Amino acid sequence: MSDFLLPNKPVLTNPLAQKLVSDFEKFRFEPLPQPLWSFVLERYGIDLRSTYADFPVSLLIGKASGQLSMELHQVRKDGQAGLGFCVLKTVIAQDAKGFQSMQAWSIPVTRMKVERIRGQDGTEGWTVTWVGRGWHKSFEAYLRFFDKAITIGSERSMLVVPSIKAHLPASVDEEWRIGEYEFTVGELLKVWRRHNPNLPMPLEFDFSPTLAGSDYARQRENILNWLIVVPKLVKQAAEKATGLSARESVRVGIKVFNALFEDDFQLTMLQTLLKEAAKGSGADFIVYANRLFDPNREYEGVKGIAYGGPDLSARNLLVLSQLTNMRWRGALPTWLPLSGTGNVCDGGIAFRYLLCGCSTLQIHTFFQLPLSCYAKRTGDKIERALHQLLFEPDNGLVAWLLWLKEKAKVETLTVSDLTQRDWSAILSAG
Ligand SMILES: Cc1cc2nc3c(=O)[nH]c(=O)nc-3n(C[C@H](O)[C@H](O)[C@H](O)COP(=O)(O)O)c2cc1C
Repeated sequence: MSDFLLPNKPVLTNPLAQKLVSDFEKFRFEPLPQPLWSFVLERYGIDLRSTYADFPVSLLIGKASGQLSMELHQVRKDGQAGLGFCVLKTVIAQDAKGFQSMQAWSIPVTRMKVERIRGQDGTEGWTVTWVGRGWHKSFEAYLRFFDKAITIGSERSMLVVPSIKAHLPASVDEEWRIGEYEFTVGELLKVWRRHNPNLPMPLEFDFSPTLAGSDYARQRENILNWLIVVPKLVKQAAEKATGLSARESVRVGIKVFNALFEDDFQLTMLQTLLKEAAKGSGADFIVYANRLFDPNREYEGVKGIAYGGPDLSARNLLVLSQLTNMRWRGALPTWLPLSGTGNVCDGGIAFRYLLCGCSTLQIHTFFQLPLSCYAKRTGDKIERALHQLLFEPDNGLVAWLLWLKEKAKVETLTVSDLTQRDWSAILSAG
């Protein structure tokens, strides 16, 4: 599936093509129908509901952790627009005494710049450049934010997910600061369980790309060790805090980063996570994959900058398609729920992530482009982006899914059909 066997554009037969053009035009000036999944299911026989980890979500698209999930008004707008989930900004873990070994990541953002970037193959795209890192207010403020965000999310059936970064030893010999894991996971669980006493808490663990430029990231053995140990520590912390089993208390998602090594190492990271999961002690889901890192690029006096755009999705999709090939060949010990992130800015890219088994997609950059980049003339950027991503007649996700539906000759297409099955035979059939 590495070349995806896809045409440049999904060619649809009439009157389906006209229906899509008319919806796209109509919603340029009107609010999107809510709930979105129900509209798309009735009108096109496509079910856009999905699962994140194993939580049902009302739309497969959500917001990725970052500068757009730091304030309650942002979370509220995500719910109003109909996003399936929102991952909150990463908080830097601390122990019971307030000590943070990763404090260097807790600096306020000075300025964010949304700028054009050209991929290696000449494709034009967008990247966001900035020098900030994790949540920079207090941990108590994060807990209050998480609490209120859950309330807002539940009013709109939107899953709200916290994200953490905790101590990572600089070498395999250094001791882990388990207290950071215990305190942070325990406090987050108190908040979560007030709202959802019978549900495990989903949690993303962020291995930031900034890390990819530090000396730490030069050590492959060390990185693989992090991937093995972090899920165990989070689970132990959850068990200790709740007195329940790990399965009952938490779902740990590892947000894999793009290291400075070759693509094979990316695959090794994913295989390591799957191997550990097969043993029963690893992550519960994977988020793939955080931004690329250019150690030589400078911004505001800082050397070494994370970036996104076309090269990010190209690299992510290359690695994920290799993983998918291994999956269908039976060469993997198990499979985990996958959430795709990285330059999801049109339906073609979204469709490719789905074909690689991603059951949800997380967006940051495409939600913050200049208004002139979206065809929709009303609503906020989240709504405008969803309109484009879903309904764009030539390259929107609905167009791609309709194209596949026609090819596969099925009445209804669901996200789980898409991600649980090898489509190469159907895609390669003329
Ligand atoms: C300004 C900015 C801040 C970010 N902050 C975080 C963060 O705190 N935690 C995290 O896990 N990812 C963070 N990310 C990464 C995004 O969540 C996302 O995975 C990545 O940007 C790829 O998606 P995109 O191409 O849609 O932006 C950040 C990205 C940007 C652009």
